[in-house]
Amino acid sequence: MKFITFFLIFTTFAFSSEFITKNEYAKMLYKNPRGIGCNKCHGDKGGGALIVKYKAFNKKSNKYEERSLKAPRINNLDFDRFKSAVTDSKGIMPSYFLTQNEILNLFEYITSFNKDKKDEK
Ligand code: HEC
Repeated sequence: MKFITFFLIFTTFAFSSEFITKNEYAKMLYKNPRGIGCNKCHGDKGGGALIVKYKAFNKKSNKYEERSLKAPRINNLDFDRFKSAVTDSKGIMPSYFLTQNEILNLFEYITSFNKDKKDEK
C-alpha cells in the first residue's frame, strides 16, 4: 500500500507538466502574468475593451463630456511591437517582468484569436 501511494505521488509529480498544454499555460499567463491580468484590460481574446467611462469638464463648451478609456486590440500586432509594449509601457498599461519565452507564449496565444488573419487563409 505504501508503495502504491509513493508510486502515485511520484508519477503525479513526474508527469504533471504533461497535463497542461502550451495553450493552457499561455492562457494562465495571460490571466496572471505576475501582475494584473492582461484580460482585465484587453479582453479575454485580446480584442480590446473598455476600461472605464468618466465625465470630464470641457471649459470651452462649459459642459461635462462623457469620455472613455479603452485598452487597444492586441491580437493583430507584430512580435516586436507586442514585446516592446509589454516590456516598457509608456502610458496607462503597467510594465511586466516576463521572460522572452513567456512573452513569446503570450504572443502566440493572443494572435491565435486574430480572426482577420484566419479569414485570409
Ligand atoms: C490596466 C490595464 C492594462 C493591463 C492590465 C494590460 N494592458 Fe496592455 N495596454 C493598456 C493600454 C491602456 C494600452 C495603450 C497604451 C497605454 O496607454 O499604455 C495598452 C497597450 C498594449 C499593447 C500595445 C498595443 C499597440 O497597438 O501597440 C500591447 C501589445 C499590450 N498592451 C499587451 C498587453 C499584455 C500582453 C498584457 C498582460 C501582460 C497587458 N497588455 C496588460 C492597458 C492594459
